[in-house]
Amino acid sequence: MTAEATVLPEFDLSTTYLGLPLRTPLVASSGPLTARIDSLRALEQAGIAAVVLPSLFEEQVDHEEMQADQMGDLHADSNPEATGYFPDLADYESVADRYLRHVDEAKKALSIPVVASLNGVTSGGWVRYARLLELAGADAIELNLYGVAADLDVTGREIEDDQVELVALVKASLSIPLAVKIGPHYSALGHQAARIIDAGADGLVLFNRFYQPDIDPRTRKVTSALELSSSAELRLPLRWTAILSGRVEASLAVTTGVHTGADAARCLLAGADVAMMTSSLLVNGAEHVATVEQELVAWAAESGYESVAQLRGSVSQRHVADPAAFERANYMSTLTAFTNSFH
Ligand SMILES: Cc1cc2nc3c(=O)[nH]c(=O)nc-3n(C[C@H](O)[C@H](O)[C@H](O)COP(=O)(O)O)c2cc1C
Repeated sequence: MTAEATVLPEFDLSTTYLGLPLRTPLVASSGPLTARIDSLRALEQAGIAAVVLPSLFEEQVDHEEMQADQMGDLHADSNPEATGYFPDLADYESVADRYLRHVDEAKKALSIPVVASLNGVTSGGWVRYARLLELAGADAIELNLYGVAADLDVTGREIEDDQVELVALVKASLSIPLAVKIGPHYSALGHQAARIIDAGADGLVLFNRFYQPDIDPRTRKVTSALELSSSAELRLPLRWTAILSGRVEASLAVTTGVHTGADAARCLLAGADVAMMTSSLLVNGAEHVATVEQELVAWAAESGYESVAQLRGSVSQRHVADPAAFERANYMSTLTAFTNSFH
């Protein structure tokens, strides 16, 4: 009797994120590679399933609008000859206009979904840009709530209420889906995540990576530096994805620390709908998307999975034999295991 070769069913990579059907769960997060049309094309060619454009920052929009107002006042106050010294506002392309043009050009250049990103924490005039980004053709909006709670008079509850209000405001202006990118620094992250979803977020992006200022002891100046992530940083979003998975009605995206196919597999096992990458693509180039996809498919074949849908969330907190492994118990066991191995 001859042994018949086992034909493995093809692994179905498809997923849905924010209601958008995607070919694979690999998405390029907001960053330099999504800022240019040539690198966006390279990402699509390498198989990326969707892209998030760099953020339009609240500060950029507010600052420019203030400048435009001031220039308008100057025109009004000066005599007709003097106005010739000032640039004509009609010829001036603002950062916001340039951003809207980038959305439009990205949509024309790509056939995959394009997510535009807004970055801010107040409910100021910049919020109307969500609607403009939709009109420019964005398939979804990612709202990045990057903030540092440095005001000692403001409570956590006040900050959280403001975030919820902002999400509801942005959502009300949109007919496309809204994802909200948050940081991990809340006293009760799960509760705030649920409130953000109740306010209208269709998905959560976990987590913002905080770049910490440093102090140069020689110059005594505050400095900043950006170090790219490593796979070790994946554990924080992984834990929270595993805790939220199956408990909230929203898409979950992991960002921070996805570098390999195994990393992407870990995100999906925890319950993510997509795994996002920036650092690994900056280090290895857009082609790295294809490598990560191949690694993910090889891992799935080895592990006996047939589809992303089948494996998603299978190691989330709701599905593991020991749910405490995602909570405080993990802290004690980690310390104990390390201490024992040290002797
Ligand atoms: C140079 C650079 C620029 C970035 N710009 C943005 C941005 O404009 N908006 C945003 O939400 N995230 C931005 N990010 C954060 C990434 O989208 C991503 O969340 C973060 O780098 C963690 O993912 P990674 O470990 O794959 O790099 C930027 C990251 C880098 C390295």
